[in-house]
Amino acid sequence: MATVNITIDSKKLQVEQGLTILEAARQANIKIPTLCFLKDINEVGACRMCLVEIKGARTLQASCVYPVSEGLEIYTQSPSVREARKVTLELILSNHDKKCLTCVRSKNCELQTLAEELNIKELRFEGETNNYPLDDFSPSIVRDQNKCILCRRCVSVCKDVQTVNVISATERGFKSAIGCAFDLSLADVPCTNCGQCISVCPVGALREKDDTDKVWKALANPELHVVVQTAPAVRVA
Ligand code: FES
Repeated sequence: MATVNITIDSKKLQVEQGLTILEAARQANIKIPTLCFLKDINEVGACRMCLVEIKGARTLQASCVYPVSEGLEIYTQSPSVREARKVTLELILSNHDKKCLTCVRSKNCELQTLAEELNIKELRFEGETNNYPLDDFSPSIVRDQNKCILCRRCVSVCKDVQTVNVISATERGFKSAIGCAFDLSLADVPCTNCGQCISVCPVGALREKDDTDKVWKALANPELHVVVQTAPAVRVA
């Protein structure tokens, strides 16, 4: 096995050639935050939370996609790294649905956890936000694009693992979104309802559907003819 010598946060390490900086750091129990990374499934460098400083490099680099090489000197907690991660997360949060109290993933949300870890107490960047309709037409999956952080984990697992390939990245820039072709609902594409997209979503953008959805829908729009089934009355003799 070919190895290379690197330094992470002044710790000298001999690691396998071909690893990424993130993998080498994890082997050495050095924590680097991630949001989009999912080992062997989604290694696309989309979220930029894993930025590190490399001595001699002109810009910060995403450690999840940067391969180690001989002599690399890496800093995972320098002031510029910490500031870049914080600003990046604040920008993600600026266009994120803030109804955390009623979100099914509250207290089990990677975005929420990271915001706590980076000590984000208030949002500095208030501005234009996207406002997408809820896609709750599928029999089993509810998709809320307003909570999506564009990490692409669902896209990768749907395409590369399940080979179903019904969701992908659409549009560009501020209008970037994850969805089905032609803005179709998940109910109108050949989704197999396997639920793998839900299991890899780091936030509450994808969740299982349950009967409470029918109740909320009926309450929100009394004109919808939604039948909420109740248990039949039991006749006591
Ligand atoms: Fe590296 Fe998202 S974890 S860019």
